This record gives sequence, C-alpha cells and structure tokens, in this order.
Amino acid sequence: MNELLSRPVALSDATLERLDRRFADAPAEAAIEYAIERFGSRLVVASSFGAEDVVLIDIAARIDPSVRVFTLDTGRLHQETYEVMDAIVERYGIRLEVMVPNQVSLQELVREKGNNSFYASIEDRRECCQVRKLEPLRRVLDTADAWVTGLRREQSITRAEVATVERDITNGGLVKFNPLASWSRADVWTYIERHGVPYNRLHDRGFPSIGCAPCTRAVLPGEDERAGRWWWERPEHKECGLHARAGLHQSSATH
Ligand code: ADX
Ligand code: SF4
Repeated sequence: MNELLSRPVALSDATLERLDRRFADAPAEAAIEYAIERFGSRLVVASSFGAEDVVLIDIAARIDPSVRVFTLDTGRLHQETYEVMDAIVERYGIRLEVMVPNQVSLQELVREKGNNSFYASIEDRRECCQVRKLEPLRRVLDTADAWVTGLRREQSITRAEVATVERDITNGGLVKFNPLASWSRADVWTYIERHGVPYNRLHDRGFPSIGCAPCTRAVLPGEDERAGRWWWERPEHKECGLHARAGLHQSSATH
C-alpha cells in the first residue's frame, strides 16, 4: 500500500459522478482497485460476512492483503457468523478491525430496557441499532475518507437507487464504493463457488440476508431476500441506519 496515498483525498461531486459512470458497468475489481490505490489506509471495507461481503474481501485481499476490513460486532450475531469470520481471517490473513458497542451506552440500554427491546417498536429497534451498530460505525468511519460496502440495488426497494460510487451524505460526506451495486444474487453465488470463498453456513439454511440473530429469520420459498430481516417491520423501514439514503451526489461540497 502506498503510504503517500494514505492521506485525506478530496473528490468533487463531478469527479464522483465521472467515477460512477466509469465503474458502473466495469468488473467489481476495477472499482475496488481504484479505491485501494486512491485512498490507501484511509479506505475501510465494511463486512458483515454475508455473501456479498466475503466476495468483497476475496477481491480486495487479492489486490492488497493489507486492506482495512472492519466488522460491527453487535454482540448479538449468530455463532455461524463468528465461524465464517474466523475462517475468512485465517484464509486471507487480513487484520480485521472488530468494532464493539460503547460499554457505557450498552449497559444503560440493557439496564433500562432489557435485552430484547427491539421488538417493542421501531424507535426501540432503532435505538438498539444506534448503540450496537451506528455509534461503532461512526468511530471507524472517523478514521477513513472512503468505505466499501456490499450493497446491491436488487436487495430491496430502499436500495434501488444505490450507485457504484457515491457521496455518503449521512456519514459526513465520505466517498462510498458499492462495487456490487449492479450484481444479482446469482452473480454473488457464482463468484463464491468459482473462487471457493468461505461463506456463512446460514445461507444454506434459508437465510439469504444475515444480521443479528434475534432480528433475522429464514425466508420461505418465493419470499423477498430481505424478508427475514426485522420481519415484523414494513419493507420501507428495513434499514438500520448504516445505509440511510440522503440522495445521490446531493452535496456540492467537496470532501
Ligand atoms: S443492513 O444495514 O441491513 O445490516 P446488510 O446486512 O444488507 O445491511 O448489509 C449491507 C452492507 O452493509 C454489507 O454488505 C456491509 O458492507 C455493511 N454491513 C452490514 N452489516 C455490517 C456489520 N455488522 N459490520 C460491517 N458492515 C456491515
Ligand atoms: Fe439490535 Fe437487532 Fe439492530 Fe442488532 S439488528 S443492533 S439486535 S435491533
């Protein structure tokens, strides 16, 4: 990794739009290679160790095994997720940055509302996501100028507008790379099989999308791929805030 490139990099909106056009129909490798070259250690790859994210790690680690990868360990993940996490770390030799919730905030939440407050209301669910995911995300993104995610447009109505390269307004204007934005679920699985990438075994048991254990269930044949996430909520609410969308390229400010 070129240390000279690991300093903050300002990219204008026009540049982001140009990059999005350049990488929208290119192989995912191209966007990831560009991101690594351009941002160096100020780039972080977000991984929940779902199918998309193990693909991202496989691609990124081939380009640069020292690429920064982080995971938000909410403390409520499935055992199978911890298993694939370890398998991936061992296979690729990556130094995974495990982000855990702030101890005091978590203690207060559990003391006040118990362990399962997320079922009570959307507000309670968001509060739990705030403590267990969003605050730790904030902390890791504070060390970065760009991040890479496994978002795909096909995943849900809330993601239909995702661009391959965009400005992340809700996270301080960081550059956000979504190299798999145009991929189908089949594309993801073809890649995993072709490259023998370790994956979360829950995918073999009816879990197309995997989050925290108490908030994820298997889906039935024919159900939407995110139907098992926060299954008691309506589709338009099914975002934890990691990927809240304020619109594409809306800021005129450079980062
Ligand atoms: S979520 O926001 O509803 O949880 P989803 O599980 O579909 O999202 O994941 C979308 C992308 O968000 C992943 O490809 C990954 O880049 C990032 N992401 C989701 N959960 C985590 C996590 N626990 N740790 C790190 N990144 C995550
Ligand atoms: Fe809490 Fe569920 Fe959000 Fe995980 S997905 S942080 S358990 S509300």
